[in-house]
Amino acid sequence: MFDLRDLDKPIVGAPMAGGPTTPELAAAVTNAGGLGFLAAGYRAPEDVEAQLRSVAGLTGGPVGVNLFVPDSFQPEPGLLDAYVESLRPEAAALGVEVGNPRNDDDGWDAKLAIVLEARPAAVSFTFGCPEASVLARMAGAGILPIVTVTTAAEAQCAVAAGARALAVQGPNAGGHRGTFSQQELPTDQLLEQTLASIRSVTGLPLAAGGGVAGPDDVGRLRAQGADAVQVGTALLLADEAGTNPVHRAALSNGQFTGTSLTRAYTGRYARGLTNRFIREHLDAPAGYPHLHHATAPLRKAAVAQGNPDVAHLWAGTGFASAAAAPAASIIGSLA
Ligand SMILES: Cc1cc2nc3c(=O)[nH]c(=O)nc-3n(C[C@H](O)[C@H](O)[C@H](O)COP(=O)(O)O)c2cc1C
Repeated sequence: MFDLRDLDKPIVGAPMAGGPTTPELAAAVTNAGGLGFLAAGYRAPEDVEAQLRSVAGLTGGPVGVNLFVPDSFQPEPGLLDAYVESLRPEAAALGVEVGNPRNDDDGWDAKLAIVLEARPAAVSFTFGCPEASVLARMAGAGILPIVTVTTAAEAQCAVAAGARALAVQGPNAGGHRGTFSQQELPTDQLLEQTLASIRSVTGLPLAAGGGVAGPDDVGRLRAQGADAVQVGTALLLADEAGTNPVHRAALSNGQFTGTSLTRAYTGRYARGLTNRFIREHLDAPAGYPHLHHATAPLRKAAVAQGNPDVAHLWAGTGFASAAAAPAASIIGSLA
């Protein structure tokens, strides 16, 4: 089975669903000596299958796939309805309707079957810990099962369920927090402290990430017990990334100076550049993926119309250091 400690360069290219991750980006990270990841979240199962085939044609090295763990949480109807109503003027201004807020399991069973068939080097999970039987099936097929955790308590659950490695995510991370419970405010404990507390309870390989902007951050996390360092935002402007033009411009043109944690777009906490939509929707309730579906038409229209005030602009706190360059040179400069 693949081991994070065997990488030539101790860098994991974070899975980034919603466009930024492409097979070309994952393969470039792997070919540079790190571990590239495909992001299966939001994608139709047949697209995930096609991406796995495509990445296998671009690299012979290890690649991982990331899946979203489904959740049966039902948002409070009153809060959900009020939030959907509050989106209507914004939707009308963009010329679209608010989407239907609903639950779904993101094609969980179909994607598990595809991963088991394709046997990538690793599979990582976020938004919760899968049942022990799922992790055992992955490990039994020779696929390294990694669970994303944000606290020592979550790490203990993941270890007990049979995770063979952990992705430890800190509060400065771009995109969604992997916090198991969507009703919980994600911890703001420093990544270094969380890493130390997890290191004291497990000897499993750990990939730590969140806010990594340069080689000093990588060195510090490695010194504190991380076997590898996971970077997302640092790769958003990579030549091989599929980051949309509105997002690319917002990351680099100086219009945005900071990031915030928000539930406004999807009903789960995520970190993005602080734009008007985040500032005006501080009251968004918990409700993933209901809110994700409700805001989807607005986000799509905003990107098509070149509107960074409404588009979601996921970014970690280190976004100002993201470089527009080939992924291999970004990985080389971090390691
Ligand atoms: C645009 C974007 C999309 C992301 N999508 C996913 C995802 O699909 N699955 C996942 O486990 N993590 C996702 N993340 C979080 C990363 O795995 C990782 O925790 C984070 O990028 C690390 O922080 P950094 O962005 O400051 O490097 C995403 C992050 C970003 C920036």
